[in-house]
Amino acid sequence: MSDRESVRSAPVAIVTGSGGSLGRATALRLGADGFAVAAFGRTGGTLGETVRQLTEAGVPNLEVSCDLRDPKAIDASIRRVEEELGEIEVLVNNAAIYPPTPFLEISVEEYDDVVAVNQRAYFVAAQTTARLMTPRRRGSIINIGSITWGGGWPLLASYVSTKGATVAMTRALARELGPDNIRVNCVSPGAFPTDAEKIHENPEIYNQFVLDHQSLKRRGTNEELAAVVSFLAREDSTFVTGQTINVNGGWTMD
Ligand SMILES: NC(=O)c1ccc[n+]([C@@H]2O[C@H](COP(=O)([O-])OP(=O)(O)OC[C@H]3O[C@@H](n4cnc5c(N)ncnc54)[C@H](O)[C@@H]3O)[C@@H](O)[C@H]2O)c1
Repeated sequence: MSDRESVRSAPVAIVTGSGGSLGRATALRLGADGFAVAAFGRTGGTLGETVRQLTEAGVPNLEVSCDLRDPKAIDASIRRVEEELGEIEVLVNNAAIYPPTPFLEISVEEYDDVVAVNQRAYFVAAQTTARLMTPRRRGSIINIGSITWGGGWPLLASYVSTKGATVAMTRALARELGPDNIRVNCVSPGAFPTDAEKIHENPEIYNQFVLDHQSLKRRGTNEELAAVVSFLAREDSTFVTGQTINVNGGWTMD
């Protein structure tokens, strides 16, 4: 088998926001579990670093610079993955933005931006990918949610709204795509010690707040989140669809 053929024989997983904290861990875990990885992100250092680590680990990969606010760019990028890397089996809708703004001060422009990245892009990527998966009758779409949607969260009204929509969309797509053997699930992270935490003024107080609420009295790692995403991507979970799996150290249990 030529190198090119061996690359194309690996099942392909797309991870959006691959340059971010949880996206990078997910891309690397899926690569370790045998997927070729299409690493979507914005041009620049962090995406390049993820691609560097994938390559170093011997994972077939494709770096895809794509502004997720642009539906046409999402569609074209996904089709490029099929042409250059092979048949897409897994889509992980992971990228998100989370500007911390008091509700009374959120502009319509900011709200639209959050919806474009955190919700519309999930919808468009799922639709384009499902159109490719449906004739093949296989595929797994994993949407990354957030603990914040269940209990509400101050200063993040637009973000929280999109994360609630993610759970709802996951259920609707699971019902509609199930007959085509395409599974759709949501992984809902709790509070991971990532860059996202920098929005909190006092890291120590926030750290204690998290530990007080979790059942497990330690912080989760990005790799522990990625392991659950990979479970939903692989053959181990072929009878699981429409679910939201909370990965939060036992903070919420619904
Ligand atoms: N970190 C946490 O504790 C936590 C908690 C709950 C939910 N989550 C969810 O997990 C996912 C990953 O979070 P993270 O902490 O790794 O975030 P992060 O900020 O580290 O990564 C997000 C990535 O999305 C990319 N992105 C943003 N806007 C984009 C655009 N317009 N086009 C292309 N890419 C864009 C960014 O470049 C970044 O690489 C998100 O969906 C987030 O809501 C994270």
